[in-house]
Amino acid sequence: MTEIRTPRLLLRRWTEYDLAPMAEINADPVVMEWIGDGSVLDLEQTAEAIERWEDGWDDEGFGLFAVELLGSGELAGFAGLSVPWFLPEVLPAVEIGWRLGRQFWGQGYASEAAHAALEFAHEDRALDRVISIARVGNEASENVMRKLGMELDHETTDPATGHRLSIHAIDLTQYV
Ligand SMILES: CC(C)(COP(=O)(O)OP(=O)(O)OC[C@H]1O[C@@H](n2cnc3c(N)ncnc32)[C@H](O)[C@@H]1OP(=O)(O)O)[C@@H](O)C(=O)NCCC(=O)NCCS
Repeated sequence: MTEIRTPRLLLRRWTEYDLAPMAEINADPVVMEWIGDGSVLDLEQTAEAIERWEDGWDDEGFGLFAVELLGSGELAGFAGLSVPWFLPEVLPAVEIGWRLGRQFWGQGYASEAAHAALEFAHEDRALDRVISIARVGNEASENVMRKLGMELDHETTDPATGHRLSIHAIDLTQYV
């Protein structure tokens, strides 16, 4: 069972107890504003997503971590690695991503979790390059990318939604 502890967070695999708090996060239109076509997800869709994320861990050996606050045990959201199948032009690639409940923004949790996930990518999974994909204008997400040391690689168009996307990348052989 893969788990990572950071000063304030536990990054871990998903359990049945994560469904309700993750569904609450996915049901918030402000959280979902810059994701896909901006639609929120209901409980059933969140259950399917968690199942996909867990299957991803089994298939790829990496995945999206459930991010838990060590202090309170609350689920803050997710951060971690996935294969961006929705954007074939960047494949083969591994993407780092993040999504936290609104009450957990502005406290450095996303960056703390993402930093640990990049270390995991390089040290545990021997990945040399990780990308991150955001809708152009998602400044909170691009801010996390910049703080991680990721650099803009190129912009492109999401084939499903027609939205402009920015692709950032980092060479993990240079990552400390
Ligand atoms: C993207 C997202 C995860 C970013 O979360 P966030 O809380 O803004 O990101 P961070 O963890 O980097 O924290 C940001 C701020 O916390 C503040 N902060 C407070 N305490 C802190 C601490 N102890 N350490 C570091 N930063 C701290 C900092 O001021 C920092 O802002 P700055 O970088 O301008 O200085 C969040 O906005 C989100 O979930 N959005 C919706 C989902 C989404 O769009 N996901 C990405 C799709 S591409």
